[in-house]
Amino acid sequence: MTILGIETSCDETSAAVLRDGTLLSNIVSSQMVHQKYGGVVPELASRAHQLLIVPVVTEALQVAGVSKGDPDAVAVTYGPGLMGALLVGLNFAKALAYGLNIPLIGVNHMQAHIYSNFIDDPRPQYPFLCLIVSGGHTQLVLVRELLQHKLLGETLDDAAGEAYDKVAKMLGLGFPGGPIIDKLAREGNPEYIRFPRSLLGNENFDFSFSGIKTSVLYWLRDNGFRSNDSTQRLPDQQLKDICASFQAAVVDVLVEKTFDAAARFGIKEIAVAGGVSANSELRYRMRQRTDEGRYHVYFPKLEYCTDNAAMIALVGWMKLRTGFVSDLALTPVANLSL
Ligand SMILES: Nc1ncnc2c1ncn2[C@@H]1O[C@H](COP(=O)(O)OP(=O)(O)OP(=O)(O)O)[C@@H](O)[C@H]1O
Ligand SMILES: [Mg+2]
Repeated sequence: MTILGIETSCDETSAAVLRDGTLLSNIVSSQMVHQKYGGVVPELASRAHQLLIVPVVTEALQVAGVSKGDPDAVAVTYGPGLMGALLVGLNFAKALAYGLNIPLIGVNHMQAHIYSNFIDDPRPQYPFLCLIVSGGHTQLVLVRELLQHKLLGETLDDAAGEAYDKVAKMLGLGFPGGPIIDKLAREGNPEYIRFPRSLLGNENFDFSFSGIKTSVLYWLRDNGFRSNDSTQRLPDQQLKDICASFQAAVVDVLVEKTFDAAARFGIKEIAVAGGVSANSELRYRMRQRTDEGRYHVYFPKLEYCTDNAAMIALVGWMKLRTGFVSDLALTPVANLSL
């Protein structure tokens, strides 16, 4: 069974080929056009997907050594994401499914992030908790069995990745900000400023990151720095200290809330997914909390943290094996929930 996966929900155009659960190729083209805007511009993302979709799919097929007519099914993200961006991938997948007369499988992008932990071994055992931390979402999910998800909590305002990107923009750093802050923070003092740990100690498992972001903005203003100004950079060490202090606040909340939920629900298996799961401090702190083997923590390989079609193809295969097939009239759902 050969599955072609397609992902175009945001600013990565990606295609992957999976055969009987084994990944043969995963091509990701990250759109550089957004860098100068400090965030993804939806209209530009749609246009870039339109240019990239054919070459990216062609390369994924070539690398996998399969021809255009070989896939037995096509799996594609149909939400959540940017409407125009989703339309490009979904329409391409529909045309392919129609032309080749093969099943179309619509995949929820957030569900796919969870299963990015199943592309390689070791894989989490059911039931497990998944902390999804991406550019658009921060969600804590209980996965009782294959494709059965219960949302325990989510962000009330900014997503963790969004906070990273906005703070990077304020500090005059580039886009996406997560990897840049991660790198600078390694040489900074995490106790330089104590930014708020919002909603920590609350009864529920919701998150809030806009307070931390605003605190960075106020600190810059109170200390005479204009935000969003790369010509007026903080002294190097101070910049690293702010990055480390901001990251410490975000990671504290993510780690503590996740382990609180694990204790409350008696879960020993914990997976992390989404772009922010590439963060070195989050990886270190989560692994530190495993209490001498009491908990098992899983992270995807770095290339499967941010958007990729490998995770889409994998969930497509999982769904197809349960007998699921989408109607060719499938339309994108920008705010699709889990
Ligand atoms: N090392 C890192 N540390 C912190 N954040 C990171 C790191 N690497 C990437 N990110 C962040 O991950 C985010 C991108 O992740 P991802 O591609 O999963 O998000 P998205 O697809 O845009 O959002 P969603 O999946 O919610 O639709 C960006 O906000 C980026 O800054
Ligand atoms: Mg994503």
